[in-house]
Amino acid sequence: MGDRDRGDRQKWNRKYRDKGPESFGSEPAEWLVAHRDLLTPEPHGRALDVACGNGRNAAYLARLGFTVDALDVSGVVIAWLRERVDREGLSVHPRCCDLTRGPLPPREYQVVLNFNFLQRDLFAALKDATAPGGLVVFESFTRLQVELPRGPSDPEHTLEAGELRRAFADFEILDYREKTLFPEDVQKTRAMASLVARRPDR
Ligand SMILES: C[S@@+](CC[C@H](N)C(=O)[O-])C[C@H]1O[C@@H](n2cnc3c(N)ncnc32)[C@H](O)[C@@H]1O
Repeated sequence: MGDRDRGDRQKWNRKYRDKGPESFGSEPAEWLVAHRDLLTPEPHGRALDVACGNGRNAAYLARLGFTVDALDVSGVVIAWLRERVDREGLSVHPRCCDLTRGPLPPREYQVVLNFNFLQRDLFAALKDATAPGGLVVFESFTRLQVELPRGPSDPEHTLEAGELRRAFADFEILDYREKTLFPEDVQKTRAMASLVARRPDR
Protein backbone atom coordinates (compact mmCIF):
# COMPACT_ATOMS: atom_id res chain seq x y z
CA MET A 1 0.00 0.00 0.00
CA GLY A 2 1.46 3.36 -1.04
CA ASP A 3 1.76 6.33 1.31
CA ARG A 4 -0.75 8.43 -0.63
CA ASP A 5 -3.28 5.59 -0.59
CA ARG A 6 -2.91 4.91 3.11
CA GLY A 7 -3.28 8.62 3.81
CA ASP A 8 -6.24 9.00 1.45
CA ARG A 9 -8.07 6.02 2.90
CA GLN A 10 -7.67 7.16 6.50
CA LYS A 11 -8.42 10.78 5.71
CA TRP A 12 -11.58 10.04 3.74
CA ASN A 13 -12.86 7.34 6.08
CA ARG A 14 -12.51 9.84 8.91
CA LYS A 15 -14.30 12.57 6.93
CA TYR A 16 -17.19 10.29 6.00
CA ARG A 17 -17.50 8.99 9.57
CA ASP A 18 -17.36 12.48 11.08
CA LYS A 19 -19.56 14.36 8.63
CA GLY A 20 -21.63 11.65 6.98
CA PRO A 21 -21.52 10.44 3.36
CA GLU A 22 -23.91 13.11 2.14
CA SER A 23 -22.14 16.08 3.68
CA PHE A 24 -20.28 16.79 0.42
CA GLY A 25 -23.53 17.04 -1.54
CA SER A 26 -26.11 14.54 -2.66
CA GLU A 27 -27.35 16.11 -5.91
CA PRO A 28 -25.56 15.17 -9.15
CA ALA A 29 -22.95 17.68 -10.30
CA GLU A 30 -24.42 20.56 -12.30
CA TRP A 31 -21.76 20.08 -15.00
CA LEU A 32 -22.93 16.50 -15.51
CA VAL A 33 -26.62 17.38 -15.58
CA ALA A 34 -25.92 20.26 -17.98
CA HIS A 35 -24.61 17.72 -20.51
CA ARG A 36 -27.53 15.34 -20.11
CA ASP A 37 -28.23 15.38 -23.85
CA LEU A 38 -24.86 13.78 -24.58
CA LEU A 39 -25.47 11.00 -22.05
CA THR A 40 -27.59 8.63 -24.05
CA PRO A 41 -26.85 5.05 -23.10
CA GLU A 42 -26.57 2.41 -25.77
CA PRO A 43 -28.36 -0.81 -24.84
CA HIS A 44 -26.54 -2.14 -21.78
CA GLY A 45 -24.29 0.92 -21.81
CA ARG A 46 -21.67 0.95 -19.08
CA ALA A 47 -20.19 3.87 -17.20
CA LEU A 48 -17.33 4.30 -14.73
CA ASP A 49 -17.21 6.79 -11.84
CA VAL A 50 -13.75 7.10 -10.25
CA ALA A 51 -13.48 8.41 -6.68
CA CYS A 52 -17.27 8.19 -6.66
CA GLY A 53 -17.82 9.27 -3.04
CA ASN A 54 -21.47 8.81 -2.10
CA GLY A 55 -22.34 7.92 -5.70
CA ARG A 56 -24.42 11.02 -6.44
CA ASN A 57 -23.18 11.06 -10.06
CA ALA A 58 -23.17 7.27 -10.46
CA ALA A 59 -26.81 7.17 -9.30
CA TYR A 60 -27.70 9.88 -11.83
CA LEU A 61 -26.18 7.85 -14.68
CA ALA A 62 -27.90 4.69 -13.44
CA ARG A 63 -31.24 6.50 -13.57
CA LEU A 64 -30.47 7.44 -17.19
CA GLY A 65 -30.04 3.75 -17.98
CA PHE A 66 -26.33 3.09 -17.55
CA THR A 67 -24.80 0.29 -15.53
CA VAL A 68 -22.15 2.01 -13.45
CA ASP A 69 -18.94 0.76 -11.86
CA ALA A 70 -18.30 3.11 -8.93
CA LEU A 71 -14.85 3.07 -7.31
CA ASP A 72 -13.61 4.75 -4.16
CA VAL A 73 -10.81 4.21 -1.65
CA SER A 74 -13.07 4.77 1.38
CA GLY A 75 -14.60 1.56 2.69
CA VAL A 76 -16.94 3.71 4.78
CA VAL A 77 -18.55 5.43 1.81
CA ILE A 78 -18.57 2.28 -0.33
CA ALA A 79 -20.44 0.35 2.40
CA TRP A 80 -22.94 3.22 2.61
CA LEU A 81 -23.35 3.27 -1.19
CA ARG A 82 -23.88 -0.53 -1.32
CA GLU A 83 -26.79 -0.15 1.08
CA ARG A 84 -28.25 2.69 -0.97
CA VAL A 85 -27.90 0.74 -4.20
CA ASP A 86 -29.70 -2.28 -2.67
CA ARG A 87 -32.40 -0.11 -1.15
CA GLU A 88 -33.09 1.85 -4.36
CA GLY A 89 -32.41 -0.97 -6.83
CA LEU A 90 -29.83 1.07 -8.72
CA SER A 91 -27.65 -0.46 -11.44
CA VAL A 92 -24.49 0.70 -9.67
CA HIS A 93 -21.64 -1.62 -8.66
CA PRO A 94 -19.66 0.01 -5.83
CA ARG A 95 -16.14 -1.22 -5.25
CA CYS A 96 -13.55 -0.22 -2.68
CA CYS A 97 -10.47 0.48 -4.73
CA ASP A 98 -7.21 2.35 -4.38
CA LEU A 99 -6.73 4.29 -7.61
CA THR A 100 -3.06 4.90 -6.85
CA ARG A 101 -2.47 1.17 -7.18
CA GLY A 102 -4.77 -1.13 -9.06
CA PRO A 103 -5.66 -0.87 -12.73
CA LEU A 104 -9.13 0.25 -13.72
CA PRO A 105 -11.62 -2.51 -14.58
CA PRO A 106 -10.60 -4.13 -17.89
CA ARG A 107 -13.44 -2.89 -20.03
CA GLU A 108 -14.30 0.08 -22.18
CA TYR A 109 -16.98 2.44 -20.94
CA GLN A 110 -19.37 4.67 -22.81
CA VAL A 111 -18.97 7.32 -20.10
CA VAL A 112 -16.13 7.89 -17.62
CA LEU A 113 -16.65 10.33 -14.73
CA ASN A 114 -14.00 12.02 -12.61
CA PHE A 115 -15.41 14.63 -10.24
CA ASN A 116 -13.60 16.53 -7.49
CA PHE A 117 -10.59 14.26 -7.59
CA LEU A 118 -7.17 14.68 -9.16
CA GLN A 119 -4.65 11.94 -9.79
CA ARG A 120 -2.59 12.97 -12.79
CA ASP A 121 -1.07 9.57 -13.45
CA LEU A 122 -4.62 8.25 -13.94
CA PHE A 123 -5.29 10.39 -17.03
CA ALA A 124 -3.95 7.78 -19.47
CA ALA A 125 -5.94 4.99 -17.79
CA LEU A 126 -9.14 7.09 -17.92
CA LYS A 127 -8.63 7.55 -21.66
CA ASP A 128 -7.94 3.85 -22.20
CA ALA A 129 -11.09 2.98 -20.24
CA THR A 130 -13.22 5.14 -22.56
CA ALA A 131 -14.74 3.32 -25.51
CA PRO A 132 -14.17 4.80 -28.97
CA GLY A 133 -16.82 7.49 -29.33
CA GLY A 134 -17.32 7.47 -25.54
CA LEU A 135 -17.18 10.47 -23.20
CA VAL A 136 -15.01 11.61 -20.35
CA VAL A 137 -16.75 14.08 -18.03
CA PHE A 138 -14.25 15.65 -15.64
CA GLU A 139 -14.43 18.44 -13.10
CA SER A 140 -11.94 19.29 -10.41
CA PHE A 141 -10.29 22.12 -8.52
CA THR A 142 -8.03 24.46 -10.40
CA ARG A 143 -5.82 27.36 -9.41
CA LEU A 144 -7.40 30.36 -11.06
CA GLN A 145 -6.74 32.58 -8.11
CA VAL A 146 -3.71 32.73 -5.91
CA GLU A 147 -5.59 32.42 -2.65
CA LEU A 148 -8.94 30.77 -2.16
CA PRO A 149 -10.57 30.57 1.24
CA ARG A 150 -11.94 27.11 0.46
CA GLY A 151 -10.89 24.10 -1.54
CA PRO A 152 -7.48 22.51 -1.92
CA SER A 153 -4.66 24.77 -3.05
CA ASP A 154 -1.66 22.43 -3.04
CA PRO A 155 -0.31 21.60 -6.51
CA GLU A 156 -0.88 17.85 -6.09
CA HIS A 157 -4.63 18.33 -5.73
CA THR A 158 -5.26 21.33 -8.00
CA LEU A 159 -5.03 21.68 -11.76
CA GLU A 160 -2.93 24.34 -13.42
CA ALA A 161 -4.77 26.83 -15.62
CA GLY A 162 -5.32 25.05 -18.96
CA GLU A 163 -3.93 21.75 -17.70
CA LEU A 164 -7.12 19.71 -18.07
CA ARG A 165 -7.65 20.85 -21.65
CA ARG A 166 -4.05 20.00 -22.51
CA ALA A 167 -4.33 16.59 -20.86
CA PHE A 168 -7.23 15.66 -23.17
CA ALA A 169 -5.93 17.34 -26.32
CA ASP A 170 -5.99 13.99 -28.15
CA PHE A 171 -9.75 13.73 -27.49
CA GLU A 172 -12.42 15.88 -29.12
CA ILE A 173 -13.18 18.57 -26.56
CA LEU A 174 -16.94 19.16 -26.62
CA ASP A 175 -17.07 21.62 -23.76
CA TYR A 176 -14.50 23.19 -21.44
CA ARG A 177 -14.65 25.80 -18.72
CA GLU A 178 -12.48 27.25 -16.02
CA LYS A 179 -14.55 29.22 -13.62
CA THR A 180 -14.69 30.69 -10.17
CA LEU A 181 -17.89 29.41 -8.61
CA PHE A 182 -19.84 31.34 -5.97
CA PRO A 183 -17.54 34.41 -6.23
CA GLU A 184 -19.96 36.41 -4.08
CA ASP A 185 -19.85 33.96 -1.16
CA VAL A 186 -16.49 33.81 0.54
CA GLN A 187 -17.40 30.60 2.35
CA LYS A 188 -18.26 28.74 -0.83
CA THR A 189 -16.04 30.24 -3.50
CA ARG A 190 -13.78 27.87 -5.42
CA ALA A 191 -12.24 27.57 -8.85
CA MET A 192 -13.05 24.57 -11.00
CA ALA A 193 -11.94 23.25 -14.38
CA SER A 194 -14.63 21.27 -16.20
CA LEU A 195 -14.42 19.22 -19.37
CA VAL A 196 -16.47 16.98 -21.61
CA ALA A 197 -14.36 15.16 -24.18
CA ARG A 198 -15.07 12.42 -26.67
CA ARG A 199 -12.63 9.66 -27.50
CA PRO A 200 -12.11 9.59 -31.26
CA ASP A 201 -13.49 6.57 -33.10
CA ARG A 202 -10.85 4.04 -34.01
C1 LIG B 1 -14.18 15.32 -2.88
S1 LIG B 1 -14.65 13.64 -2.90
C2 LIG B 1 -15.50 13.56 -4.45
C3 LIG B 1 -16.53 12.46 -4.51
C4 LIG B 1 -17.37 12.42 -5.79
N1 LIG B 1 -16.56 12.27 -6.98
C5 LIG B 1 -18.23 13.64 -5.89
O1 LIG B 1 -17.92 14.56 -6.66
O2 LIG B 1 -19.22 13.70 -5.16
C6 LIG B 1 -13.11 12.81 -3.29
C7 LIG B 1 -13.24 11.30 -3.25
O3 LIG B 1 -12.00 10.72 -3.67
C8 LIG B 1 -11.81 9.53 -2.96
N2 LIG B 1 -10.40 9.15 -3.04
C9 LIG B 1 -9.34 9.84 -2.51
N3 LIG B 1 -8.20 9.19 -2.78
C10 LIG B 1 -8.52 8.07 -3.47
C11 LIG B 1 -7.76 6.98 -4.02
N4 LIG B 1 -6.44 6.90 -3.88
N5 LIG B 1 -8.42 5.99 -4.68
C12 LIG B 1 -9.78 6.05 -4.81
N6 LIG B 1 -10.54 7.06 -4.32
C13 LIG B 1 -9.93 8.06 -3.66
C14 LIG B 1 -12.28 9.87 -1.56
O4 LIG B 1 -12.58 8.76 -0.76
C15 LIG B 1 -13.50 10.74 -1.86
O5 LIG B 1 -14.69 9.96 -1.87
